[in-house]
Amino acid sequence: MSTSSEPVKIGIVGLGTVGTGVVRLLIESCDHITRHVGRNLVVERVVVRDESLSRQVTLPKGMVTSDLSQITEDPSITVAALLVGGLEPARSIMIELLERGKDVVTANKALLAEHGPELFALARRKGRSIAFEAAVAGGIPIVATIAQCLSANRIEAVRGILNGTSNFILAHMEEEGASYSESLAMAQKLGFAEADPSMDVDGTDATQKLAILIQLAFGIWIPWREIPRTGIEAIHAVHIARAAEMGYRIRLVASASRAENALTMRLEPMLVRQGSPLAEVRGAFNAVEIKGDAVGRIFFHGQGAGQMPTASAVVADIIDTVVGRAAITFDTTGRMIDTHARSKEPLQSDPMNRHFLHLLVRDKPGVLADITGILGTHGISIASVIQQEPTELGAGVPLVIMTHYARQASLRLAMQEIDSRPTVTAPSTCLSVLDELDAPRHSVRESN
Ligand SMILES: NC(=O)c1ccc[n+]([C@@H]2O[C@H](COP(=O)([O-])OP(=O)(O)OC[C@H]3O[C@@H](n4cnc5c(N)ncnc54)[C@H](OP(=O)(O)O)[C@@H]3O)[C@@H](O)[C@H]2O)c1
Repeated sequence: MSTSSEPVKIGIVGLGTVGTGVVRLLIESCDHITRHVGRNLVVERVVVRDESLSRQVTLPKGMVTSDLSQITEDPSITVAALLVGGLEPARSIMIELLERGKDVVTANKALLAEHGPELFALARRKGRSIAFEAAVAGGIPIVATIAQCLSANRIEAVRGILNGTSNFILAHMEEEGASYSESLAMAQKLGFAEADPSMDVDGTDATQKLAILIQLAFGIWIPWREIPRTGIEAIHAVHIARAAEMGYRIRLVASASRAENALTMRLEPMLVRQGSPLAEVRGAFNAVEIKGDAVGRIFFHGQGAGQMPTASAVVADIIDTVVGRAAITFDTTGRMIDTHARSKEPLQSDPMNRHFLHLLVRDKPGVLADITGILGTHGISIASVIQQEPTELGAGVPLVIMTHYARQASLRLAMQEIDSRPTVTAPSTCLSVLDELDAPRHSVRESN
């Protein structure tokens, strides 16, 4: 940390949604930030792709350029915020900034999830830091919490709602009784979903954030593609309604936990008990729940994206970098993120849960006995069965089954067998039920 009273010059790469918010916050909260840091932070240069575009923030003539070397070649700029999305040219820009001795702040979770090992290693070699609070859950300060505030804890579980778009869609389907496509259209109309929402609804975005949280919480690097992932595209209004009747909401849950010396991780739509913290997350909000061995359960809720919540995290990282906190944290977490070591603990890919099954079957004698028989053959014990009136989903009678604890692999095999029966009229849905964080561990019960 420098003790000089000279202004600190900041370079910004990217002046889109987040970059504009960051520049605004640095300008509009200048006095407050100066009091906090003890030095003035000034935006020295802003690099964009197309400098001829009109901007939503007024900057001095000549400050905006498409020439990255105006940051990389300027030794007076020591900190750069990389606010360009995607993998390339973001990766090359990050490398260039680090090579040229800049500390980097970024909001780009895809870049870190894909190229984290290479970029963290380069930063360490160059004695620089990479700060990335904004890359996970936007305005919720979860990275600093895990990396700094919970450093005395062995983290047992971390889970959350990490994608606002999919949460908006699920909550809107429930609250308005709307279909998936109507809710997606509403999310797009309100600016909560991109024109191409695939990375949000197929779970890619949330899984990339989960991979970063796993690095921080458990100190291991899991390529995000290895994390089991299911999006929300197959969730139908009728699943949400049936789950609600049983006291649950459907939420896209990212989770990772350590139990019996194994790590379990996945991203999937789950039934979450109404009234529990994650079930009550509405709209485009995010939430993260952590269990540490000393601190117990803690819960964070807030805006996971959007211009100013994300800018809040980026500017906090810029401040942390300037005062020297980011370097200490990066050094500590950088040692934890030993990306070559991979996991020393086995990965548990077959967790145990209760499951909600939604089937459509022909209304014939013996069908229910056949289905319960298949479940029993796979060692899956049934907690309850509800037969519903036919719905708009097509021919067949809806059958909702809640199972006792069972392994996902057993469920998968049983569902394949059930769906191959001619008496089952549409592909069945199987969703896991989320346990409370402090629920006792369960073993498989004897089949009914
Ligand atoms: N938006 C959010 O709420 C949010 C929340 C959390 C994290 N993030 C992450 O933050 C990052 C930025 O998101 P955003 O929404 O601000 O994106 P955006 O609105 O699309 O802005 C991207 C900016 O990058 C600039 N850019 C693209 N290629 C460049 C290049 N080669 N050199 C210099 N600048 C270049 C663009 O320049 P032009 O303007 O000239 O085209 C634009 O200003 C992404 O990684 C995103 O995942 C966003």
